[in-house]
Amino acid sequence: MRLAILYGGKSGEHEVSLRSAASVIRHLDKSHRLHLIGITKAGSWHLQPDSVLATCLEGDEPMDLRADGPEVLVVPGKGLRVYGTHGSADLPLDAVFPVLHGTFGEDGTVQGLLECANLAYVGADVLGSAIGMDKEMTKALWRQAGLPIVPSITARASDLGRIDDLAANAEGLFGWPMFVKPVTCGSSVGASKAETLSGLKSALSAALEYDTRALIEPFVAAREIECAVLGNDDPRAFPPGEIIPSHEFYDYDAKYIDPDGARLVVPAPLDEATTGRVKDIAVAAYKAAGLSGMARVDFFVDKNDGTVYLNEANTIPGFTSISMYPMMCEAGGLPYSALLDELVSLAVDRKKTRAAVRYDRA
Ligand SMILES: Nc1ncnc2c1ncn2[C@@H]1O[C@H](COP(=O)(O)OP(=O)(O)O)[C@@H](O)[C@H]1O
Ligand SMILES: [Mg+2]
Repeated sequence: MRLAILYGGKSGEHEVSLRSAASVIRHLDKSHRLHLIGITKAGSWHLQPDSVLATCLEGDEPMDLRADGPEVLVVPGKGLRVYGTHGSADLPLDAVFPVLHGTFGEDGTVQGLLECANLAYVGADVLGSAIGMDKEMTKALWRQAGLPIVPSITARASDLGRIDDLAANAEGLFGWPMFVKPVTCGSSVGASKAETLSGLKSALSAALEYDTRALIEPFVAAREIECAVLGNDDPRAFPPGEIIPSHEFYDYDAKYIDPDGARLVVPAPLDEATTGRVKDIAVAAYKAAGLSGMARVDFFVDKNDGTVYLNEANTIPGFTSISMYPMMCEAGGLPYSALLDELVSLAVDRKKTRAAVRYDRA
């Protein structure tokens, strides 16, 4: 297969992408022909020299990203084209693997470009990506499907002027403590616990720096359980894993800075019934949110009474070799390299299926 790997990107998760992409590239079957396309923080796409691939394969560092190489343009109807100093050339491809986390990569925007360019791509499509990125929309669909979610109120910047009413409403519904987070972020950016009215105000101001909407939820004292789902129309779930953060919640530091911030346990030590329930809900949640390719569906399991709640879906989950998604697949009998091959075939299959759809009237 001729594959393009997109990595880097404009989001706050650029550095995470550099690590995920290095891992994906190292685990992809060597028979594939890889074209590495680095996306700078400013958003321009650059074909990487062979030396970047060679360095990646030799070492264990995050990806290097060179912005001095030829630019890559998306040409509607025609795929990708490389523009160098000596002119331009098409980049023939069988599929694109966006290893991008967060906004402008995981949210449907890049997926839309790839659709316009008639390219097969790994992971959720435009709609699924956009839904997965938006925690308010995801919850609305899950609620409608009768799936268990943590209740929430959505607050906007304009609500800050009537924060006392909003807080009274939230207090009546949820009690204290509460949890506040931006609707469309990831990596726990802008998320915090609020224990008092003044805490809620500052938590909302912090969350609304990162998005125009924030969710207020009851604080759930919960175990954090994650479940890998893979597939298009007939998705399957893998044995769930558990994140045990050493911080009060799984915050940015616990995720990326503090080496002892969290312990990952795969498979999660859950009883058989809860494991089955998590897997069933994960598949139902995946379908309800219109997902395809892959997603990591994240849960809370109440520490006190064992209630299972859906939290969120990540359509391009972390992909380092110590990331949950590949580890959970491995625990379910699908090794990392085979997982990557399956993702590529799912991408190609989806494109084939859609190519059979008629868009004209003739
Ligand atoms: N309602 C909640 N109660 C308690 N902790 C929460 C709640 N919502 C989120 N968290 C904590 O914040 C972390 C990040 O929130 P999450 O919804 O997963 O967003 P992100 O997309 O940033 O990962 C979670 O892993 C969990 O530790
Ligand atoms: Mg999360």
